[in-house]
Amino acid sequence: MNEMKTAIYPGSFDPVTLGHLDIIRRASVMFDRLIVAVMHNQNKQPMFSVRERMDFLRRTTEGLPNIEITSFGGLLADYAKQQGACAVVKGLRAVSDFEYEFQMALANRKLNPELDTVFLMTSAEYMYLSSSVVKDIAVHGGSVAGFVPDGIIQDIVRRTGKDG
Ligand code: COA
Repeated sequence: MNEMKTAIYPGSFDPVTLGHLDIIRRASVMFDRLIVAVMHNQNKQPMFSVRERMDFLRRTTEGLPNIEITSFGGLLADYAKQQGACAVVKGLRAVSDFEYEFQMALANRKLNPELDTVFLMTSAEYMYLSSSVVKDIAVHGGSVAGFVPDGIIQDIVRRTGKDG
């Protein structure tokens, strides 16, 4: 059977970092279609709207042919079923990520038995990186170059009003 393999890489992406892009690039060669799904309705107070976060992802993944940028609310397990996805991709940075991710992976598989979670070990240089770290640096006037793709640095500077 020659079935197309679709995976979903979900997250807040507020904003996308070089760590996320590393996972996207690596996952895109493992699957026929990779849906990068921006979660909305979250409890965190976002710096960027879902539309802005999707725009950043679109701009920074241009040239990757099998990527789709979408957004979703509700349960990831339901959204995966709706999209015909067989896998969720997550990046694992440190042991501290493991317990939470393990719990989510098991819950998602219980909710959707056809759905498996694939963990990609983050590249060493992005071990410490998170969107919160990026926002914290930016609001305090530090430079986020080397943390996020060059193409969105100005958007972050404009939002924080600090020119790093
Ligand atoms: N590189 C850089 N940063 C990374 C990273 C990587 N490889 N992997 C994770 N991160 C960062 C994220 O930017 C995020 O940073 P922040 O907390 O500073 O914003 C943090 O690590 C947590 O990432 P993650 O665990 O992926 O959480 P998220 O908030 O981005 O997304 C969902 C979580 C969307 C996957 C999850 O909440 C979900 O599935 N929600 C839908 C509702 C649902 O189905 N719930 C039941 C699940 S069982």
